[in-house]
Amino acid sequence: MDQAAALKDKGRQTRVIAVASGKGGVGKTNVVANLACALADSGRKVMILDADLGLANLDVLLGFAPQYNLSHVLSGEKNLEDIVIDGPKGIKVIPASSGIQEVTHMGTKEQRILLDQMEIFDGQFDYLFIDTAAGISEMVTSFLVAAHTSIVVVTPEPTSMTDAYALIKVLHNRFDEQQFHLLLNSVQNMKEAEQVFNKLNLVCEKFLDISVDFLGYIPSDKAVPEAVRRQRAVVDINPEAECSKRFLIVARELERTPVKKQTGGLQFFWRRLLHGEFARE
Ligand SMILES: Nc1ncnc2c1ncn2[C@@H]1O[C@H](COP(=O)(O)OP(=O)(O)OP(=O)(O)O)[C@@H](O)[C@H]1O
Ligand SMILES: [Mg+2]
Repeated sequence: MDQAAALKDKGRQTRVIAVASGKGGVGKTNVVANLACALADSGRKVMILDADLGLANLDVLLGFAPQYNLSHVLSGEKNLEDIVIDGPKGIKVIPASSGIQEVTHMGTKEQRILLDQMEIFDGQFDYLFIDTAAGISEMVTSFLVAAHTSIVVVTPEPTSMTDAYALIKVLHNRFDEQQFHLLLNSVQNMKEAEQVFNKLNLVCEKFLDISVDFLGYIPSDKAVPEAVRRQRAVVDINPEAECSKRFLIVARELERTPVKKQTGGLQFFWRRLLHGEFARE
């Protein structure tokens, strides 16, 4: 990475957005790739941390093949800047699906390596998206607690709704998380999105005493799997598709939504992630 350019760009306050779902296969990786592309198109500097342990990772989706990943950085074999991949539209991707699981249990030596290495990205990005793994592991909850904004992807499938609720419940009860942005994916239309949202919101109000926010919806659209097959983001290759238009609306909405935790940028995020200082047992 060009050090001079890095210095010139210092000063951006990076907003860290973690994307999770509880249930696997509901569209997290597609959401991350497309929101990242939409924001990059409108001139934002975007980075993605690929912490997805699933099968269809970002590298498959955006058509690149990482040779190294975060585990090589933590072992000292590589520097972070050597493993970062140039995605489309100037998006930078940290391939972290290998090595990231250890992050919440790192020794102080590895913590120092990670924090020192991450410093180079300070002030350079407007957004850092985190594509998390399925499930409600400690790693997933740690990302959501440390991030500035949490997006929960939900589909109308009952198992997706119950798993999304389970995720929100753990984050609220154990970590006192208050704000969740729901993104309804693979819905037939706005009406179905609202129905699913209202159901989930009602349960959260009744049992957790919190309201969740409606970030938007993405229709079920065959253009999504078509784009996946071509290893491109759908907003990129098929901007006229209904789902692409919706991704742009969601990206705009995301830019408008206030950040839940005002303090700190990228370094603050990593410190919070590594030290888990907000965990309540
Ligand atoms: N809006 C949509 N319309 C149609 N198909 C979709 C939509 N969103 C996602 N899909 C399809 O669902 C599948 C799963 O998507 P994706 O890989 O993004 O899910 P994920 O939540 O990241 O999965 P994992 O939990 O395994 O990481 C993909 O094959 C994708 O094409
Ligand atoms: Mg995924």
